[in-house]
Amino acid sequence: MAIVSSHTPDDSAKPKAAKTKATRSKPSAPPADAETLQPLLSLVKGGDMQPEDIQAESAGAATDAAITTTAPEDSLRPQRLQDYIGQAALKEVLGIAIQAAQSRQEPLDHLLLYGPPGLGKTTMALILAEEMGVTCKITTAPALERPRDIAGLLVSLKPGDVLFIDEIHRLPRVTEEILYPAMEDSRLDITIGKGQSARTRSIPLCPFTLVGATTRVGALSSPLRDRFGLIQRLRFYEIDELTPIVLRTADVLKTPIEPAGAEEIARRARGTPRIANRLLRRVRDYVEVKAAGAITATLAAEALELFNVDPCGLDWTDRRLLSVMVENFGGGPVGLDTMAASTGEDPQTIEEVYEPYLLQIGYLQRTPRGRMVTPAARRHLGYDEALPNDGSQMTLL
Ligand SMILES: Nc1ncnc2c1ncn2[C@@H]1O[C@H](COP(=O)(O)OP(=O)(O)OP(=O)(O)O)[C@@H](O)[C@H]1O
Ligand SMILES: [Mg+2]
Repeated sequence: MAIVSSHTPDDSAKPKAAKTKATRSKPSAPPADAETLQPLLSLVKGGDMQPEDIQAESAGAATDAAITTTAPEDSLRPQRLQDYIGQAALKEVLGIAIQAAQSRQEPLDHLLLYGPPGLGKTTMALILAEEMGVTCKITTAPALERPRDIAGLLVSLKPGDVLFIDEIHRLPRVTEEILYPAMEDSRLDITIGKGQSARTRSIPLCPFTLVGATTRVGALSSPLRDRFGLIQRLRFYEIDELTPIVLRTADVLKTPIEPAGAEEIARRARGTPRIANRLLRRVRDYVEVKAAGAITATLAAEALELFNVDPCGLDWTDRRLLSVMVENFGGGPVGLDTMAASTGEDPQTIEEVYEPYLLQIGYLQRTPRGRMVTPAARRHLGYDEALPNDGSQMTLL
């Protein structure tokens, strides 16, 4: 069964949500509930997907829908578009899309969000559902292994619901193919029987909005990518955007903090709200134990030094990646797999988690021959800037 959690619009936002719901037009396709499915599915004999499978999954999804998981991060997430800090361009595009969809009384267009981890993709999907006054069902691509997982989820969606699929680049091929007609024509095609006697049946679905999130947009197949009406990139946050995020989180956590303290944390947060929130928690611990009172810039800097986060936000792994490249490979170019092997990190983690920020701050460069450390990074790590790139590469392992 698909792993799914669902978020219904917040109670505090009920009046608006209720209004949105009330004005929503009836879907052109009838909801594919058990009753509607029955006559169609009673025809199904053999084949990969049995009617009971779909109904069981549909019922399962509905049961799961009742379970709202509350991760610790959830309490820190802003719930409305206006509270979402930064990403001005993205907010403007989505604000327009929401308003247009609401005035036409249609679901929002399918949306693909991409960017490094922790920049607010899941948060944005939840906000969209909240703004549209619909439920957001959250799942992740690796959980949609079998066709019945996605089929069950799709038939359980109500008109206009948001289906959020995290790590969408990891969708299995069969699941992806079921999504195509679902996204385009609100239709679920199932194959009945096997071999020559195989036939396809279509089940109408309620129109819905698929929000896909990925850290690797290039890994998405083009037919899937092309079916998204909106493709939006999230970028790293500036310090003056992260500072209010830290202040807001401190407020939620009831932690006294000075603006300069928030800025110090923001400066070391690698342009990423999730890291900013994590660092704030560490600093809060430090200040509670070592000194009573508010978080000041000095205390934040002291605490973060202790936790090995340097003034640029680089942690132990970032510094190790760069120093191995300088010391063992004369600064590069070094291939990704070689970097991974010599640091003991997973290549995908380097590519998706560490590298984007190092590229962003100009400490790493990507060339056709591999990655290179820049003079700015050498300076930051205290190496001789003029160190020639003589290619004196140590033999690996
Ligand atoms: N614009 C923002 N304003 C305020 N807080 C934010 C914002 N964006 C993200 N956050 C905070 O950062 C945390 C991480 O965000 P989120 O889980 O949405 O990231 P993500 O892009 O989905 O990451 P991943 O790729 O790892 O799934 C959230 O708990 C939220 O509190
Ligand atoms: Mg997420």
